Amino acid sequence: MNLIFLGPPGAGKGTVAAELKKTSGLDHLSTGDMLREEMKNETELGKIAKEYIEGGKLVPDDLIIDMVKNRLENAEAGIMFDGFPRTVAQAEALDKIAQIDAVINLTTTIDVIIERIGGRRICRNCGKVYNVSWYHKDTCEDCGGELYTRADDTEETIRTRYDEYLKKTAPLIDYYRVKGIVHDIDANGDIQTKVDAISDIIKG
Ligand code: AP5
Repeated sequence: MNLIFLGPPGAGKGTVAAELKKTSGLDHLSTGDMLREEMKNETELGKIAKEYIEGGKLVPDDLIIDMVKNRLENAEAGIMFDGFPRTVAQAEALDKIAQIDAVINLTTTIDVIIERIGGRRICRNCGKVYNVSWYHKDTCEDCGGELYTRADDTEETIRTRYDEYLKKTAPLIDYYRVKGIVHDIDANGDIQTKVDAISDIIKG
């Protein structure tokens, strides 16, 4: 099974995908994580992506599509796509290389997004995502790595990312709705309730 997580920045796409990876047997493909790895390694792609990401803008489609195609060459399990596709051009490219069985549309509001992303902290070593609303240490509980705040998690950049989402990504909800595969999930509830609901969708 292949599924897509759609939703604005901070809706919880990465958090639920990381939880579901533990039990579903599905692989987690996050284009945001892949781009941050490219930036960390200072690759050509990373250097180009940095400017777009830190300005809250989407990275050009051709770069993203090539990156995902390369990653899928080694895919063995079904995939949870997190942060991809983000434009109709990306969705059309994905249709040519993978069958999508379900789209999880996480819905929330800009106020919740700003509060959540403003409190997000990430482990520099293993990438685990925390929030200061429930985790008060500055090192990772799993590996002891230092926690940091993403450079694109300022309020100004979050608002630009949200505008990008409304303009370029939200149209994908209808793109997939006509195929009859969209499941709307209220992203405002607690994390485990969402994980359980999506788990049921995966099990069919
Ligand atoms: P990306 O990394 O994909 O960022 P995003 O879509 O903006 O999403 P986030 O990672 O901010 O949020 P999330 O929904 O995963 O929320 P999370 O689980 O962390 O992309 C970054 C950039 O890369 C883009 O802006 C773009 O430039 C570029 N890019 C990436 N993919 C691209 C593509 N396909 N095309 C072009 N450009 C691309 O949760 C957020 C916080 O809330 C956490 O602290 C978490 O603990 C907390 N939280 C989560 N759920 C709950 C809950 N239910 N209750 C309370 N707290 C919660």
